[in-house]
Amino acid sequence: MTKPLTKDDYRPGDVTVHRDPVRLTRVVRALRAAGRNIALVPTMGALHEGHRKLIREAHVMQNTVVVVSIFVNPAQFGPNEDFTTYPRTLESDVDVCREERVGLVFAPAAEDVYLPGATATVHPGPLGDELEGASRPGHFAGVLTVVAKLFNIVQPTYAVFGEKDYQQLTLIHRMARDLNFPLDVVGVPTVREHDGLALSSRNRNLSEDERQTATALSAALVAGAHVSGLGAETVLRTARDTLAAVPGVDLDYLELRAPDLGPAPENGDARLLVAARVGATRLIDNVAVLLGAGDE
Ligand code: PAF
Repeated sequence: MTKPLTKDDYRPGDVTVHRDPVRLTRVVRALRAAGRNIALVPTMGALHEGHRKLIREAHVMQNTVVVVSIFVNPAQFGPNEDFTTYPRTLESDVDVCREERVGLVFAPAAEDVYLPGATATVHPGPLGDELEGASRPGHFAGVLTVVAKLFNIVQPTYAVFGEKDYQQLTLIHRMARDLNFPLDVVGVPTVREHDGLALSSRNRNLSEDERQTATALSAALVAGAHVSGLGAETVLRTARDTLAAVPGVDLDYLELRAPDLGPAPENGDARLLVAARVGATRLIDNVAVLLGAGDE
């Protein structure tokens, strides 16, 4: 029989913070048994307007309790990446969750997520080694492993992710399908600043000058998308020229792919993706483009 919930488990109308995965699973099971849907928004914290949009999307489903996980996942950072400097702002994140009417925050310690001696991981397949994966070996195995764990701990009816991390979203869709997770994965369009910069927790690491330089990424994507009617080569050349005109952008990749990140079609729907370093900060962005559809 499901144990009744106490005020320490779940307080309707307020946010409850859980650290213990076993207890969190007990709480969500009791909520599901009481007829509630669970919507999960996985995050690494440092919540911004983009996360608020994910949370608002999570509220759209009827009768839902929204669970936000906040966990800076060590398994998805390489040895020379920014794991130690990644912003950790739990207190203000919980305030954001309260403002957005989140029911449960799951903020576990690393040792409760990765048990001693654990070796099993999720293998992303070949796409995990391309684009982001080419520069960040092992990154997507780390992402998919923690997301699979979150799916099992939180047992959501649906899970919401941003399109800014488009390759991550694509791989999570595939994992949910290939491994039969009984939930819907929902993608939400990227939130941008007034000048086009895609919102990211890493933006807070940029100096004022770097912040200005970083707008080159979205400007290049917009310039490329604008000439999409002229075909792939023109899109890539235009976007590359836009980036090259801005000093301080160290380009990693600029690629056109199909919406499922297979090879780009000659005509039709495609995705233009970019990654670049601005100062010490690595940034990514992407947009949808319609190739060969007209003659701008
Ligand atoms: O997009 C993120 O913030 C992370 O990669 C995720 C999905 C929370 C997994 O750690």
